[in-house]
Amino acid sequence: MESNAKRRAAEGALSFLEGAEVVGIGTGSTIMEFVDLMKPDARLYVPSSMETVRALSSRGFRVAHPSSVSHMDIYVDGADEVDADLNMIKGRGGALTMEKLLAHYARSRIFIVDDSKIVSRLGERGPVPIEVLPEALGFVEEGLRNLGLHFEERTCAGKRGPLMSDTRGYILDVEVPRDADPANLDNQLRSIRGVVETGFFLGMADAVVVGYSDRVRILTR
Ligand code: A5P
Repeated sequence: MESNAKRRAAEGALSFLEGAEVVGIGTGSTIMEFVDLMKPDARLYVPSSMETVRALSSRGFRVAHPSSVSHMDIYVDGADEVDADLNMIKGRGGALTMEKLLAHYARSRIFIVDDSKIVSRLGERGPVPIEVLPEALGFVEEGLRNLGLHFEERTCAGKRGPLMSDTRGYILDVEVPRDADPANLDNQLRSIRGVVETGFFLGMADAVVVGYSDRVRILTR
């Protein structure tokens, strides 16, 4: 049912590509539904992760490394949680730093989610991921403890130590306190030197396409 809703969200976002020549593409299972619906064309696609590089290039799309472009017409990605103001948590796939970079530099930003991602409070479904400079891991973890925050190092089977992202940072998952204001918490996290990026995407969505099992809804700010 969830994958049907993801598919509907992906279908609902296709028309946003009209007129776009350079397109940033995010990471995750919902964006893969979107990629499956697209056909290789003259557009240039800028992927946010190695996973997306491989998906796009194996299907014959023109792929550009982020370092080789100076603008993007649009960025399309999934999200982990979306609140009523279209603020989001992203990065449960570990690609938050590149995702936020591409989203920031794109002229418009569209996110596609199934209805299970809509929340009344960010952090309701899970933690906010942060990316940390590996050398700063101990300092950052102490900084989180000093703020009274609970966190876990993201692990991956067969590897010792925390998961390393494509951008070579360690990923930590920070519990969002029930009474936390996301903007304040985001600022607190960023103020810990060694934190490279957080998974709070606040005020970044121009539209969120929400897929349900039988329909699609477009939310705009
Ligand atoms: C990747 O780091 C994430 O930000 C994904 O965009 C997010 O986790 C959504 O993934 P799914 O579409 O797989 O739920």
